[in-house]
Amino acid sequence: MSESTPLVTGVIVVAAGSGQRLGYGMPKAAVPLGGEPILMHALRGIVASGVASQVCVVLPAGDEGLRRLCGSFRDELADGGPLLTLVDGGATRADSVRAGMAALMDGTEAVLVHDAARALTPESVFHRVTEALAAGAAAVIPVLPVVDTIKTVAATSGGDSVFAPEVVTGTARREELRAVQTPQGFTLDTLVQAHRSAEGLDRRESAAVTDDAMLVEMLGTPVYAVRGSTQSLKITTPLDLIFAEGLLEGPLGARWVEG
Ligand code: C5P
Repeated sequence: MSESTPLVTGVIVVAAGSGQRLGYGMPKAAVPLGGEPILMHALRGIVASGVASQVCVVLPAGDEGLRRLCGSFRDELADGGPLLTLVDGGATRADSVRAGMAALMDGTEAVLVHDAARALTPESVFHRVTEALAAGAAAVIPVLPVVDTIKTVAATSGGDSVFAPEVVTGTARREELRAVQTPQGFTLDTLVQAHRSAEGLDRRESAAVTDDAMLVEMLGTPVYAVRGSTQSLKITTPLDLIFAEGLLEGPLGARWVEG
């Protein structure tokens, strides 16, 4: 792969999740972080990175509050900034991605799919992903090494109540494992083909598809990995929110930016 001109890129921001695990009784994208909804941090980060010709935000269907918020953000965008498009999400993350794909403008060459929940993703990660696409990769994901030892388990019946009802079935080799983040980048054709192939999956198989790259892997297309960032954590639990608040306002504050 060699360096070349950036592709016309649309960023699909999936923000249609319920955020039940965060326990705020509102969609996760609307939960305040440092005084502003999580979604606003994500949008500002994307626009600041300069990679997007279009930002397509996938919102919980019928959520007027987040729609209004995005409307005000659109007014803030300078002339020459990306086109901001709003669409309603679906029942699963993959449905939400497909809703975003349907709203991409003509001429789009590459797509980044980004979780709104990764609100503090540094610009450098967006750049690494888009540079790999420009250099010829069809699919790119940001990853981090795994610090824990990861085991596979299976459910077991009965046994001693002291233990969880699971038995270990294996231990993956840690040096071969990576924790996968977003934005995940694809050429438009690759993402369209990957989601088309997912139409044939049954419900159980669909539930096991937890990211877009997995669908590309099923096509047999190589997926390249670039360095992610610990700052790009997916805000999922109350503890993640405390950590993210700490990144914004704690002793390290805005001075700390991990590349
Ligand atoms: O649920 P999970 O943490 O995997 O969600 C990852 C991202 O996908 C979140 O940003 C969430 O808002 C989004 N999502 C979505 N539509 C769904 C489910 C999740 O846009 N139906």
